[in-house]
Amino acid sequence: MPALLEVDDLVVDYLTPTGRVRAVDHVSFSIEPGEIIGLAGESGCGKSTTAHAILRILRPPAQISGGRVLFKGRDLVQMDERQLREYRWNHISIVFQSAMNSLNPVLSVGDQFVDMIRAHVHSSKSDARERAMNLLQLVGIDRTRIRSFPHELSGGMRQRVVIAMALALQPEIVVMDEPTTALDVVVQREILQQIEELQQEFKFAVLFITHDLSLLVEFSDRIGVMYAGELVEFAPASRLFREPKHPYTVGLMNSFPPLAGERLTIQGIGGAPPNLANPPSGCRFHPRCSHCTPSNPALYALQTRVKPELQLVGENHTVACHLYGDGRER
Ligand SMILES: Nc1ncnc2c1ncn2[C@@H]1O[C@H](COP(=O)(O)OP(=O)(O)OP(=O)(O)O)[C@@H](O)[C@H]1O
Ligand code: SF4
Ligand SMILES: [Mg+2]
Repeated sequence: MPALLEVDDLVVDYLTPTGRVRAVDHVSFSIEPGEIIGLAGESGCGKSTTAHAILRILRPPAQISGGRVLFKGRDLVQMDERQLREYRWNHISIVFQSAMNSLNPVLSVGDQFVDMIRAHVHSSKSDARERAMNLLQLVGIDRTRIRSFPHELSGGMRQRVVIAMALALQPEIVVMDEPTTALDVVVQREILQQIEELQQEFKFAVLFITHDLSLLVEFSDRIGVMYAGELVEFAPASRLFREPKHPYTVGLMNSFPPLAGERLTIQGIGGAPPNLANPPSGCRFHPRCSHCTPSNPALYALQTRVKPELQLVGENHTVACHLYGDGRER
């Protein structure tokens, strides 16, 4: 049985006037039915570009330069626009980053639902409206809000509307790109709980994107950590929480307050992510990594010159870091 979604060696470039920017560099992972996969990493590491490539909604100057995106074994990268239209929303949908501002301000919520539903399935206006009201109710919004315009709703409500729209055609996968980041912490929690309840009821899979690793640890089955366009670690959430291996993952973990237990000083990661137009040689994280010093010349040579490949370090746990070369810790 193929995975529900398999991203296989995906490469995405932005072809800018000043040269090629490789935003997604040979990324591979899979999503099983009903699974919640988290994708974490600092700003600019390629999370949204990965999401847009999966839905084939990249705009120039971005292009998929290599790899496959297999949905139940069929490669979306090879599909034409007509075939893709059947997939988007019906099978895979997306809640865009800053989605709550993506609603059309001059159309009522109901009209936006009806337009979207009728663009993808045969449905009368009244059936589509009925479906929209049920969806609003599902995400905790009163049915009468169907008549509201976006500016009449709070940020949290707008975000719920956008999530309801993404669920409208009962897709098997919903990509959620920072769906709660713009909201205050209390509303953020409420919405996450709602997503979890909906996910348990409807069993759709989720690709959940955020820079907040602590959130993913609570919410996901498995987590991928991206750095400078590459996946550097992938593991079951509980394992990543207990035993993060990659120094970047450890740094990300320490950048957020602990979920429970005593308060610790929050240590961020020093330095900034590299310019993807000209990334560092060897391990891309080496200029920021505290394990990278000339005092260990052999390791230093590897870190600065040889790109570490992802390798298995435990059950379903892969890491790209020379500290774990040949399956052992150095
Ligand atoms: N329009 C563009 N033109 C050129 N390069 C771009 C463009 N958009 C993105 N990039 C490059 O792609 C990289 C990845 O961008 P992307 O939006 O996927 O990151 P992200 O992980 O989603 O960040 P954030 O957390 O800020 O949303 C950026 O660092 C940048 O180098
Ligand atoms: S390979 Fe070396 S420089 Fe890169 S993350 Fe691992 S320890 Fe740090
Ligand atoms: Mg993004």
